[in-house]
Amino acid sequence: MSLALITGGSAGIGAAFADRLASRGHDLILVARGELRLNAMARVLAARHGVRVDTFVTDLADRHGLFRLEALLSGPEGLAVDVLVNNAGCGRSAQFPHAERRHLQAEIDLNITATIGLTHAVLPGMLQRGRGTVVNVGSVAGHLPAPGSSYGPTKAWVAAFTDSLAPVLRGTGVAAIAACPGYVRTGWHTSAPPEGLAGRLLWAEPEHVVDTCLADLERGRVLSVPGPVYRPLIETIEMPRRALRLAARLARASRPDRRETAAPAPDPAPAPASAPAPATPPAGSAGGSAGGRRPGLPDLPARPAQRVEPAHCARTSGSDHFVTTRRSSRERRARAVAAARSRAFAAAEQAPAQRPAGTAQRPAGEVAVPSA
Ligand SMILES: NC(=O)c1ccc[n+]([C@@H]2O[C@H](COP(=O)([O-])OP(=O)(O)OC[C@H]3O[C@@H](n4cnc5c(N)ncnc54)[C@H](OP(=O)(O)O)[C@@H]3O)[C@@H](O)[C@H]2O)c1
Repeated sequence: MSLALITGGSAGIGAAFADRLASRGHDLILVARGELRLNAMARVLAARHGVRVDTFVTDLADRHGLFRLEALLSGPEGLAVDVLVNNAGCGRSAQFPHAERRHLQAEIDLNITATIGLTHAVLPGMLQRGRGTVVNVGSVAGHLPAPGSSYGPTKAWVAAFTDSLAPVLRGTGVAAIAACPGYVRTGWHTSAPPEGLAGRLLWAEPEHVVDTCLADLERGRVLSVPGPVYRPLIETIEMPRRALRLAARLARASRPDRRETAAPAPDPAPAPASAPAPATPPAGSAGGSAGGRRPGLPDLPARPAQRVEPAHCARTSGSDHFVTTRRSSRERRARAVAAARSRAFAAAEQAPAQRPAGTAQRPAGEVAVPSA
């Protein structure tokens, strides 16, 4: 039987995920702070779908609460979770300058640290079994943060983190997706959603968020944005980044030196002792296997690698071509500044008496030059 763990599974979007996954036959572990509500939800779902539902009461914004759950999931003895939904999140409405420091920290602890910790606890097992899904619940606010919001940037991290996992997981049987809804009708909001067109266009039901996410997952998407307004909006915003990412992948795949060793550089950090090492590292995953060319990349004709002057070449995720162009114009600017600086030195040496007032006492090397 497959097992799904849902943080914040006692209400709102998490409860909708729990319901949908149980209806597909997954056993559940629901995580939240409030025991009464959690147990009530567990009873309802077990009775409705005939699956086993366990609960784990903890505050995931608390370091020790998170570690207790991580310990349950990681290592060879850890629970074999097939679907992890990192859903529990928090956001304060106060603008950053007026927010309480502990609230700002709780946003980071719950929205970011708990997502990292739990994902890191379950991924090695998923990779070893060759199957699994990680759903990270972000928000449209990650793409369009409200002014002064510290919540939005934490959700931008959720989307970026999921995006960075996707290429590592490609071809392993494990998938990751970020569900990034706009307004959702849950207990999160203290005021009632607006009526009429705005309510229909901008607000979603939690079940719709979940159904859209599960459908996008089946399509192999990494980002799921529900809603007739937000979806096209965010897809438009995402377009240039996706195009760049694809171009970089194709460029990498076409380089003869990368065709045989396309696996990303291994993580320099040692794996935690508790994490089981995959028996056979999947192609394209960190640690990579010999000849680990990423599956799914089209075969492109080999072309000679572009010659890049070492002085220009800063390696940024293998996209030397893009860097070169930027570096050239930067270098031109730097040369112009250097030339201006030597002219200024020469002028200063030749005509000390004509220095403008205020610069006469400057020590050498502090001659004013146009800024770069
Ligand atoms: N509602 C929206 O408009 C909206 C829009 C975009 C994104 N989101 C995101 O969707 C996710 C869920 O939001 P929601 O609207 O479903 O919220 P919700 O209805 O308020 O439910 C939150 C759930 O998370 C649990 N939870 C909260 N803090 C926790 C903590 N520190 N440790 C463990 N569990 C905790 C809650 O249970 P306890 O209180 O008992 O712990 C509850 O089960 C969040 O990540 C949120 O950022 C929501």
